[in-house]
Amino acid sequence: MQLQDGVYQFPGGISALELCEKYGCPLYVYDYSIIERQYKRLTSAFEVKKLKINYACKALSNINILKLMNNLGSGLDTVSIQEVRLGLFSGFSPDNIIYTPNCVSIEEIGEAVKLGVRINIDNISILEQFGALYPDYPVCIRINPHIMAGGNSKISVGHIDSKFGISYHQIPHVLRVVEATGLTIEGLHMHTGSEILDTEVFLRGADILFAEAKKFRDLDYLDFGSGFKVSYKNDGIETDIEDLGRQISKRFNFFCKEYGRDLTIMFEPGKYLVSESGFFFSKVNVVKTTTAAKFAGIDSGLNHLIRPMMYDAYHSIINVSKTEGTKNIYNVVGYICETDTFGENRSIHTIQEGHVLCIKNAGAYCFTMASNYNSRFRPPEVLIYQGKDFLIRKRETMNDLIHNQVEADILQPTLKAGEDLLNTLLNGEKQKEILESKEAQ
Ligand SMILES: Cc1ncc(COP(=O)(O)O)c(C=O)c1O
Repeated sequence: MQLQDGVYQFPGGISALELCEKYGCPLYVYDYSIIERQYKRLTSAFEVKKLKINYACKALSNINILKLMNNLGSGLDTVSIQEVRLGLFSGFSPDNIIYTPNCVSIEEIGEAVKLGVRINIDNISILEQFGALYPDYPVCIRINPHIMAGGNSKISVGHIDSKFGISYHQIPHVLRVVEATGLTIEGLHMHTGSEILDTEVFLRGADILFAEAKKFRDLDYLDFGSGFKVSYKNDGIETDIEDLGRQISKRFNFFCKEYGRDLTIMFEPGKYLVSESGFFFSKVNVVKTTTAAKFAGIDSGLNHLIRPMMYDAYHSIINVSKTEGTKNIYNVVGYICETDTFGENRSIHTIQEGHVLCIKNAGAYCFTMASNYNSRFRPPEVLIYQGKDFLIRKRETMNDLIHNQVEADILQPTLKAGEDLLNTLLNGEKQKEILESKEAQ
């Protein structure tokens, strides 16, 4: 989204404010050209014979995004059987999907076997059960390399106290299970965390994976997970992907020579591919000055975008309705009945009630973490593709809040009375609207 002549615009000259009028606020918008740019930048960074990118769809799982990822040539990284099904529904072939669950039942893993996708196992007990049930189904093993890395403790997953992966010290046990069951291990995997800046951290993990990989003779691929840091503050502080690509490629090619075969190198980025493509627009309901601060209260909250509250994540916030002149310091907060602060002490062009603010880097882990908390509707999603805007998810309605709820028999008379009252009030409101619009004509 670029500022041109005082107006924020998407490719094709689509005005951000016009999109907000057309679809209403709050609103998620994804610019496909940024996803494509990131995918191409990532794939160009490696100099290896066989590279595979599996998009981690937990970041953003709208089926249109999945289809576009498939068109780009990406595979899919999934963590639940529902994500696997979404992937198949969106056109990925089973061998292009890797399923990396944690703490799921053997029954769910059995469903993934039926669907024919690649399976990544991160627990010796499950490996034993899997080997007994499906000895002919090749699998991948997720290793825990005991590396503390990542932007926040909740997204650091490869350290010694983490629930993820099989400790690399337990590989002798894994080999005993493999021998006893006759399983084929087709891949080794690790993922140490998210938002890792330093190339050295990736290289340390890679060295552990190379050392363990030599103990397995049937490997087709090594999967280095993800964790690439993107710039949240527009300050360019991000993983140097070109440097990482060069250094990992060199070591990987050397490993393949020693191993005696060209394996595929895999990565499974979420944030790197979609974070910057996303823009979350929300209208300012109130500007409130207290003895402590100036608050801008928007028509959204942690129900729509929880990263700042959950991970202390920083997201840039700009005023789309006022793009020049004086700036003031604001705390941008939500309407949820809890403290839901999107940003503290932010210098933003003077905000008035009714202005539209944009929260940037809203592509990854934003809509997919949205909920109906406070019985609010989840917002619509719009895709900008080849200079046009497409609605790719409708705003929820009252029906979405109610349709899975079942009235217990015992309560039916009371609920019926409530429903009748609501309908009468809504009808009254409707009639008023009709009368008013007739008067206006
Ligand atoms: C196993 C696994 N792979 C890949 C990812 C994607 O990480 P990122 O969004 O940092 O690229 C995650 C994120 O949680 C993950 O758990």
